[in-house]
Amino acid sequence: MALQIVAAADPADLADQAGAFLLTRIERALKERGRARIILAGGSTPRATYAVLAAGAARRALRLERLSWFFGDERWVGAADAESNEGMARAALLGPLRAPEDSIHSWQAGRGDPVDCAAAYGEVVTREMGGADHASDRAPDILILGMGADGHTASLFPGATAHLPGGKTVPVSAALPGSAAAIGPEGQRGWRLTLCPDFLRTSRCVVFLVTGAEKAAAFRRATRGDPSTPATWVRGGETVFIATRDVVEDGGRDIRHA
Ligand code: 6PG
Repeated sequence: MALQIVAAADPADLADQAGAFLLTRIERALKERGRARIILAGGSTPRATYAVLAAGAARRALRLERLSWFFGDERWVGAADAESNEGMARAALLGPLRAPEDSIHSWQAGRGDPVDCAAAYGEVVTREMGGADHASDRAPDILILGMGADGHTASLFPGATAHLPGGKTVPVSAALPGSAAAIGPEGQRGWRLTLCPDFLRTSRCVVFLVTGAEKAAAFRRATRGDPSTPATWVRGGETVFIATRDVVEDGGRDIRHA
C-alpha cells in the first residue's frame, strides 16, 4: 500500500487528526479481530495525540480488556523517571484510559542489564504479536512512531551500535536482526532499548507523528525512501506520516474522514 502523507496545520491539529485516525484503526482491529495490539511511541510529540486518543476511546467506551499496549522503544530508566517513554504514555493515555495493568507490557527498563532486558522484551513481543508479516492475525495492529531531525525512529539511531546477547555488537541498520535490541550509549544519550526493523515492519498500520521544521529534511529523506534514514526502514501494511505543515513541503490531505 502506498505511503500516505497528511499535513496538519499545527501540533494541536496533528493531535486531533492523529487521535481520530488511530481510533478508526483501533475500532477496525476490534471489529475484524476482536482485539487491538498497539505499540506506542515515546518522545514528546505523541503526548497531545495520546490525550485526544484517551478522550475518544473513553467516549466510545472501547472494551479495554481487548486492547494490549506495548512500547516501541525505551530509555534506560524506570517508568517513574521523567525521561521514561512508558511514564509519558501512562500519564497521557494509559492512566486516563484506566488501561488494565495486565494489558500494559513494560520493558522493565533501568534494572539489571540492558542487553538482557532487550532480549526479554523481544521474547514478550514475539509471544504476544509474533507473526510472519502484517497479514498475520497475530501482527501488531498499530505502530505509532516519532522521528528525530537525524531521521531516527524508535531508538534506531543512524550510526549507532546495537548490543546483542553473547557480547556481539552490530551497526544499527535496516537489517538489524531479532525483535529487540539494546543501543549503546553515545555522547549525551544513554543506553536505549528498541524494537528492531524486522519486527516493526510486521505491523498492519504504521503511523509516524512528526512536528518541527528542523525535521523537514529528514522527513523528505524518509518519505522518498532514502536507505540511510532509519524512518525509511519501517513500512507496514499501511503507512501514514502525519506531520505539521512546517515539515511537509507540499502538504497532504485531511484524513479526519479517512
Ligand atoms: C524517544 C523516541 C524517539 C522520538 C523522536 C522524536 O525515545 O525519544 O522513541 O524516536 O520519537 O526522537 O521525539 P520528539 O517527539 O520529542 O520530537
